[in-house]
Amino acid sequence: MEFSRNQPTAAAFFPYRRNGILHHAMERYYIETYGCQMNVRDSETLAGQFETLGFMPADRAENADVVVLNTCSVREKPHTKVFSRLGELRRLKRCRPWLVVAVCGCMAQIMGDKIADRFDHVDIILGPRNIAQFVQALEQARAGQGPVILRDTKELIPDALPVRRCPGVSAFVNITYGCNNFCTYCIVPYARGREVSRKPEEVLREVRETVAAGYREVMLLGQNVNSYGRNLGRSVDFPDLLTQIDSVESLWRIRFTTSHPKDCSEKLLRAMARLSKVCEHLHLPLQAGDDEVLRNMGRGYTLDSYRRIVDLGRELVPGLAVTTDLMVGFPGESARQFENTLRAVEALRFDQAFMFRYSDRPGTRAAEMPNKVPEVEKQQRLKALVELQNRVACDINRSHVGESFEVLVECLDERCPNLVRGRTRQHKLMLFPGDARLIGRLVAVRAEEGYLWGFKGRAV
Ligand code: SAH
Ligand code: SF4
Ligand code: F3S
Repeated sequence: MEFSRNQPTAAAFFPYRRNGILHHAMERYYIETYGCQMNVRDSETLAGQFETLGFMPADRAENADVVVLNTCSVREKPHTKVFSRLGELRRLKRCRPWLVVAVCGCMAQIMGDKIADRFDHVDIILGPRNIAQFVQALEQARAGQGPVILRDTKELIPDALPVRRCPGVSAFVNITYGCNNFCTYCIVPYARGREVSRKPEEVLREVRETVAAGYREVMLLGQNVNSYGRNLGRSVDFPDLLTQIDSVESLWRIRFTTSHPKDCSEKLLRAMARLSKVCEHLHLPLQAGDDEVLRNMGRGYTLDSYRRIVDLGRELVPGLAVTTDLMVGFPGESARQFENTLRAVEALRFDQAFMFRYSDRPGTRAAEMPNKVPEVEKQQRLKALVELQNRVACDINRSHVGESFEVLVECLDERCPNLVRGRTRQHKLMLFPGDARLIGRLVAVRAEEGYLWGFKGRAV
């Protein structure tokens, strides 16, 4: 579930040159975010801490005094990107010797010591649970005490840290940190520590704060939102939390991710049906369509129990979009087992899917499993899966042509500025003729053409 948002735009301070060196009237920071929405939200907290120190955002690393790479460890690919970026920053630091380089996020947690050994120009290494200590780490690094390495997954993340949110209509709000599931392929529990739920009053406070700041939609974040509340020692679960948030005035839409199928209750589906602000969208990662593979992954459900949730969801919540994550080439996955995934995808008809090749994560149980699937085979399986899923998604979107959707307008279309872009409640992209005055509004739009990515339409 890779995710990115634009960096905050540079503020109205002009750089100037002195002796051929670019100076700024104020110190500037630049944050590069990899990975999932949690990391995007963490980058907003890092930005908030910079701004309490009086820093301004830079438009690129070359103009910054502090550069943060907020990293991801979920697959091998983001690692490679960060390593090459660190090489570039080493060169940059030669011309800007005062530059502070920080590596935060999941990679910092998982392999911070290796990064410190290999890249002596890195000043700060900070795990995701240590995010509140960024200011302290920066001060120490600038006092010449670097590299400052803080990686403690038992650390509790304080509520109400300063935040500078990405501009837009939708705001991210964490409801849980960490994960207790230890799916055998997954690095996240090692990177983010044990699951902790935030108190409902803290979540509500933050939701109200985002509404007061002009956001109209919240995306509630947790590795498994369905286990929300378990450590709180009182009787509040995720559907209860949704019920409380639904009553926040001037909030229009509530979304959440991710819903783990093993904990997805009928109570949740009924809450989705009942609560008017909760959008008709369920992101429910299936991972694989074969029971033995699911068992080896430690997912805690079968294809049949998964299907029952989807069927009930579609029955209770009219217009529900179901999206998923799928992985091919898990250790030992046979051609026949992969075909079970294809058959499941054909039958379940997902509106969208994020599809990945299994990637060995050292330290996980799956990394130790025998019968690894060769890379070429994984590639072929992924190609077949993507082709099938794309066909299904296109068919679904075309079947909705002629229907009207409530669209929350987000921005002008980059390529065609006489069009605006927004999302339906099902989280589908809608492009339609309009201008900047529509941004932040709810508009009824009729879908006129359906594509893999969403719709083109016209306001009704
Ligand atoms: N908490 C979420 C998933 C977070 S990671 C959940 O349980 O659904 C996002 C996705 O990355 C996962 O759903 C999975 O499909 C994929 N993923 C995780 N580990 C992976 C690995 N080792 N190789 C390939 N894909 C992986
Ligand atoms: Fe990883 Fe599983 Fe936790 Fe999701 S639920 S973050 S896949 S261990
Ligand atoms: Fe997210 Fe990547 Fe960490 S997907 S939780 S940033 S490993």
